[in-house]
Amino acid sequence: MIGAGYVGLVSGACFADFGHSVVCVDTDARKIEALRAGRMPIYEPGLEELVRRTTAAGDLAFSTELGPAVAGAEAVFIAVGTPARRGDGHADLSYVYAAAREIAAHLTGFTVVVTKSTVPVGAGDEVERIIRAARPDADFAVVSNPEFLREGAAIGDFKRPDRIVIGADDPRARDAMALIYRPLTLNQAPLMVTSRRSSELIKYAANAFLAMKITFINEMADLCEAVGADVQEVARGVGMDKRIGGKFLHAGPGYGGSCFPKDTLALIKTAQDHGAPARLVETTAAVNDQRKRAMARKIVKACGGDVRGKTIALLGLAFKPNTDDMRDAPSIAIVTALQDQGARVRAHDPVAMEHAKQTLADVVYCETPYRCAEGADALAIVTEWDAYRALDLERLGRAMRERRLIDLRNIYRPHEARAAGFAYSSVGRPG
Ligand code: UDX
Repeated sequence: MIGAGYVGLVSGACFADFGHSVVCVDTDARKIEALRAGRMPIYEPGLEELVRRTTAAGDLAFSTELGPAVAGAEAVFIAVGTPARRGDGHADLSYVYAAAREIAAHLTGFTVVVTKSTVPVGAGDEVERIIRAARPDADFAVVSNPEFLREGAAIGDFKRPDRIVIGADDPRARDAMALIYRPLTLNQAPLMVTSRRSSELIKYAANAFLAMKITFINEMADLCEAVGADVQEVARGVGMDKRIGGKFLHAGPGYGGSCFPKDTLALIKTAQDHGAPARLVETTAAVNDQRKRAMARKIVKACGGDVRGKTIALLGLAFKPNTDDMRDAPSIAIVTALQDQGARVRAHDPVAMEHAKQTLADVVYCETPYRCAEGADALAIVTEWDAYRALDLERLGRAMRERRLIDLRNIYRPHEARAAGFAYSSVGRPG
């Protein structure tokens, strides 16, 4: 497993849990050292335990040396980062291609090289070309095997996938991949074999569709506010249609994270380059971007139109619960916009505050939600952590200067909040 980041680490540990022998390789020596000592570089429920168990069983090891790991492997997974390239939004494939070059040097026997990193259509061809050019003698096949893991639920998603997608044109590679995933297919997980290019596109299309679904319900939420309807009722009514499905219809402050923003952008670029522009996805990305700042305006409006000199408390900074990931989190745009308008910002998050400090300066970070509320003129719930679902509203209110609650995740019932004396607003529900 090349790359001990989010995807590499979770996939590697899960494969090891199946009894496969896995080596996770990373160039970051400090990270490898920490992993060997049982310290996780990311927050992911269950991961530490899984890594401890599989390393103790001898199925999982960590190394900074790619050579020996590749030489002994039947399959090499490339799970390095593909960040958005600075300036143009294309996926930056330099890490993937560098890994391919290094892998090439150490191949022995028939080896399946698997791109697990999210790569644009055609990247598998380039990986194959790079390896072939470096090692005309090597016996290998390049396969696409995208991941569909949600942060915070990654281990469960890996072990109970909706589907496993294998993009492989070589029959030997298909057989090898089927063996690797056998523990899951024995448990009835559907395994789908496609061409490599289809597989590469499936990942982007799935993420773009989900991003679109979220953005759609967010627009419906705005409409609900304008016409006096309730977006939760609308989402339920719409989602009961089996063709639509009820998942990913929670209105909120817009999607963030390491995947949707980056992958929609990369799909837009690929589609433009091939003369088949994906206008719906383009609009989705633009609407979502604007939405994050619009949430700050919602808070300002709740404060009577002006937040200069006021103190705003934010609960939740991570882009979603159960992760410390701050990448493209709506909280970033919200904090910045509030500060631009002269507000003082206090914040709490159960795990993301350390990461947040690197991005968001001039914020007073607080140890508990109640501390966070102290002296605040308004309190906004930005991430729906379970810890925020049953707050003592009375106690919260007593700590605040003004009882204003802006619930951007709709986790409270309006009448409960009002009963506790709050001026309450939420997303897409009657005011
Ligand atoms: C996503 C995909 O779900 C996963 O399959 C892919 O491999 C990686 O990207 P992740 O980014 O971890 O996973 O989180 P997800 O749970 O999908 O949420 C993404 C964003 O959408 C979050 O900001 C979340 O708050 C938001 N969201 C999700 C909504 O606003 N409403 C919803 O109904 C669902």
